[in-house]
Amino acid sequence: MTRATPSRPFHVVAIGGSIRARSSTELALRAVLRAAAECGAETTLFSGPDLVLPPYEPGVVDDSARRMLDAVESADALVIGSPGYHGTISGLVKNAVDYLEELRLGQRCYVDGLPVGCVATAYGWQAAVNTLGTLRVLAHSLRGWPTPLGMALNMAAAPVFGEDGGVVEPSVAASAEIMASQLLSFGRAGAEPVASPVA
Ligand SMILES: Cc1cc2nc3c(=O)[nH]c(=O)nc-3n(C[C@H](O)[C@H](O)[C@H](O)COP(=O)(O)O)c2cc1C
Repeated sequence: MTRATPSRPFHVVAIGGSIRARSSTELALRAVLRAAAECGAETTLFSGPDLVLPPYEPGVVDDSARRMLDAVESADALVIGSPGYHGTISGLVKNAVDYLEELRLGQRCYVDGLPVGCVATAYGWQAAVNTLGTLRVLAHSLRGWPTPLGMALNMAAAPVFGEDGGVVEPSVAASAEIMASQLLSFGRAGAEPVASPVA
């Protein structure tokens, strides 16, 4: 497993969003990555068309999925973002996450020991909060450590993003910065993976 060293920057990988133009979930992920980059991290985003992968079939990995898996294998922190669809995460994001099954027998099992930021958007609090909870369950099942701060954004409450896609709601900007800081501080502390027969 690779870890950030003085010669290798901390790498944050984000997966999520929707294929909708100006996906609010993607904009929220970009805000977290921007904040992480300001702290010196290298960032990689898989969103929009990157998520249009064939329905996951165990053992079958095309070039797009391989790129995502390679990035996650080199990550020091992961961020997963989903819109709330019918109260929970979208099929598009779940399918992309299902591909992480290919990392079960990899150099580290899934994302063992990595901090995982979870970001949910919806058109109401109920789906936003429930989707955030589901993302935290996913992070746990992938052996990751959800950051203490998760982001549940209610797009119906107030304008969150401006015309340029930047965050205009101060509490959301602050949340993105706190999440980035938690990803980097936990990731740098380096929770060491523990060998276990339980997958
Ligand atoms: C198929 C579908 C189902 C949705 N279901 C819900 C829902 O159950 N509750 C809710 O608050 N919003 C729901 N929404 C609204 C989206 O969660 C919300 O607009 C979200 O911010 C869209 O994310 P995006 O901009 O990244 O595409 C739904 C939207 C779609 C397209």
